[in-house]
Formats: sequence, structure tokens, C-alpha cells
Amino acid sequence: ETVEWAAESYDMGGHDTYMHKEISEQADSVDRVLRGRIDDRFATVHLGGLNMDAREARGVRRVKILGCGSAYHAGMIGAQLIEEVARIPADAEPASEFRYRNAVVDPDCLYIAVSQSGETYDTLAAVQELKRKGARVLGVVNVVGSAIARETDGGVYVHAGPEVCVVSTKCFTNTAVAFALLALHLGRIRDLSVADGKRLIAGLRRLPEQIAEILDGEEAIRRLAAEYAQARSMMFVGRVRGYPVAREASLKLKEVSYIHAEAYPASELKHGPLALIEPAVPTVAILPDDELLEKNRATLEEIKARHGRILAVAHAEQEKADHTIVVPRNEVELDPILMGLPLQLLAYHTALCLDRDIDKPRNLAKSVTVE
Ligand code: AGP
Repeated sequence: ETVEWAAESYDMGGHDTYMHKEISEQADSVDRVLRGRIDDRFATVHLGGLNMDAREARGVRRVKILGCGSAYHAGMIGAQLIEEVARIPADAEPASEFRYRNAVVDPDCLYIAVSQSGETYDTLAAVQELKRKGARVLGVVNVVGSAIARETDGGVYVHAGPEVCVVSTKCFTNTAVAFALLALHLGRIRDLSVADGKRLIAGLRRLPEQIAEILDGEEAIRRLAAEYAQARSMMFVGRVRGYPVAREASLKLKEVSYIHAEAYPASELKHGPLALIEPAVPTVAILPDDELLEKNRATLEEIKARHGRILAVAHAEQEKADHTIVVPRNEVELDPILMGLPLQLLAYHTALCLDRDIDKPRNLAKSVTVE
């Protein structure tokens, strides 16, 4: 599988920063990760680069996803999708932690390395260690022909196109979609029904239009960013499907605005972080319309009782929140993919308010190719 980039795709295309350009491109980039892969006849997807036949895929007993930073967060979404859709136990771990802890390598486990650049040293070292111990390792990678793409046994290219801004946006989204494809593929060769396969395919096809709809709401998010830019620190919370979204949004905000931010599972707030809540420390709460919505609403009440300000990301206006960013509904499994987008814009506009060096935040490099 190869993708050729037109040289002009590197120009700014009228945007002031690559970050804004790359956020704005996501309806197209998501369309690209889907293109040519959907098989309506069998309600599944074809992933030509996996190099794993159905019998081998059925032999997978566990999935372990490894990556760093945003790639790790996309991997957290991926693990949830694989576990929920394909019913294979799955989890994600920072690649660096994995390689340093002399992990037990399980021959029935499918290892997946995730990387935009395909050159991150910690992730590459984890792949090499796994290969040395005889594991099967796939790559979910953006840059075609990169070191991780070459050293893995197969994989899925995420086709986000070149990502120039140090802060990852469109690649994060495309990686999450690539995992949805992989989950659907693994699910349909196991017990996922035709009806559920079709439902998820229809949901995947709706994504580009819904992404465009979210990005059309930029002006409202710009106004919210102006309001929250003075925060001393911000909390990001979510339960299960919302939690990786909270993790990524918190990383995005701190990378580009330098505002201190923490992400917690919403259920953990009462075990400590609630002590931080006060008007100068607003909370961004992710509330997908799933079986945990009522629990998440109760968390909003707990925050309000401590005089915390709340910005909710939900599918409908939230009474307890000071502001709600309303995101269109997709299928419950795919909603986290959409819920991250407004928070990329929030990070961008907050950084703009604070006059930060958006494309090249201090102390960071696009890919960390050293230990
Ligand atoms: C994302 O905004 C960061 N710049 C960073 O966390 C990045 O995702 C990480 O360094 C991994 O890079 P990779 O995807 O190229 O491996």
C-alpha cells in the first residue's frame, strides 16, 4: 500500500498555522483512511497490508497496543474498540514503559505498534524487542516506508497525509478510525453480526460529514477558548469511552497552550483530584450518550457542588455544565472519535489567545528519535 503526496499539500493553503490547516483537513483525511477498504457484501473491511489470514487472526487471544503520546492515546481508543467490537481482550501501554519492564511476551498476543512518524525510538525499540522474542507485531503508521512500517510484520497505514505541526491532530483522528477498521475486521471474522457490521460501516461512512459539521462550529469554540484561556489549570474527565478523549485533549492543551492540564477517569475524581476543583480550575467533561451518561451527569453535579466551572462535550446541552459543545451522534463505539475534534480546536484557539508558538511548541520535536 502506498500513498503519494502532492508537493502542494505541504503549503499552508491559506491557514496561519499547520495546526489549523491539519485540523481543518480532517473530513478529507478520514475519507482517505476509509477509501477502498469497505466490503459491503460481507459487512466488513479489507486491510490488504495486514499479512494475516483469517485462521491466524482467529488465533489471536489478546491484543497489546504500544505507542507514545498521542499515538498511545489513539491506541487506548483502539484497544476499547477491539475489545468491544471483536471481543478480544485488549489494552494499550506506553511503548517506552513496555520496553523497559522486561514484559512477558505472549505468543498468542497480537502486538500493535502505533506511530505517526514511524520513527519514534521508544516505539521502534519495543518492536525490535518483540521481534527478538518471536512475537507477531503489526504497525498502525502514517509515514509510508518508515522504520516501524518496515520492521513490523504488516499493518494498516492511516493515510492522514503529511502532518507538519509538532502537535498531532489529523493523524490522531485517522489512527482512531484505522483502529475502528481493524476492530471491525477482527470482529467480523469472529462473532460480530452482519447487522452490527453494517451499522458500524454506516457510522464510519457518516464520519467525514459529521467532522465537517463539527469544524463548522469553530467560531463558538473560539469564543469558549477566550473564556477559558485564563485558567490556572484544567481537568479533563471521561468514563471508559470518554477517558482516552480526555487524555488526548489534556495533552493537546498543555502542548500548545502551556496551561497545566490533567486527565482523569471521571470515577477517580472523588479519590483525590476533586481537591483541586475551584473556579480557577475548570473541568472539561466528555459525555458520550452511552450507558454511563447518568453517572457522568452525577460527576458534573459533584464538580458544581465545589464551584467548579464545566465545559461539557456531549450530544445534547448539559444542564449542569456552564457550556456545552454539542457533537453529532454517530454509533456509540465511534462517538469518541468525533468528541476529540472540538477539543483540538479548543487547544488551538487557547494557544492563539495566549500568543504561543503553535506549530513549534517549546521543548518539543515532531518525532523523538532518540532515547
Ligand atoms: C502529539 O501531539 C505529540 N507531538 C507526541 O505525543 C507524539 O504523538 C509522540 O511523540 C509519538 O509520535 P509518533 O506518533 O510519531 O510515534
